[in-house]
Amino acid sequence: MVQFRLPMLPNPGEVGWNASVNGVDFSIAIESNAILLDVLRDQVGSLGTKRGCDMGTCGCCSVLIDGNPRLSCLTLASETKGASITTVEGLADGHHLHPIQEAFTEYGGSQCGFCTPGFLVVISALLEENPEPSDQEIKTAIEGNLCRCTGFQQIVDSIRAASEILVSGIGVEDSTTPKSDPHPGFEEGS
Ligand code: FES
Ligand code: FES
Repeated sequence: MVQFRLPMLPNPGEVGWNASVNGVDFSIAIESNAILLDVLRDQVGSLGTKRGCDMGTCGCCSVLIDGNPRLSCLTLASETKGASITTVEGLADGHHLHPIQEAFTEYGGSQCGFCTPGFLVVISALLEENPEPSDQEIKTAIEGNLCRCTGFQQIVDSIRAASEILVSGIGVEDSTTPKSDPHPGFEEGS
């Protein structure tokens, strides 16, 4: 009797991978054809790095590789050996949020939040290079990131606010301080 066998893909084999992720050195074994997004999420534990489209069109998986924004879903992990990688978890300085994180919370740059990590890392790189970006520079920097919730205006407002924080050195109002009632005429039960 004839036996049919499905052809199997060859085992990719393992290779060593070392990199610094958010300042922590990792030296682990990965599959030679592993995608950086998978290594970051499944082996490094950076669950802030989101998988959206998995094909380079949404920007949710953005990380910084040696300071430059890259799509981790389109990056072979083996090509990042020895690199310094920053994910959204690495943006805050201890208990102090990065100015763009502060601004997103105050200006509504995030709604469902799924796209937010990608925006934050890309914007942090923009502001690092250019603390006072023009509207066109802001638009160009985030053109690879999609948000289905905010309508983008709040994101642009957040970037402008973060720019002001960086230039002036003064943070936005602490989100825990009481704010005035935005609907002063509204009474409970009416
Ligand atoms: S998951 Fe990488 S661009 Fe969408
Ligand atoms: S906040 Fe929901 S997709 Fe951007």
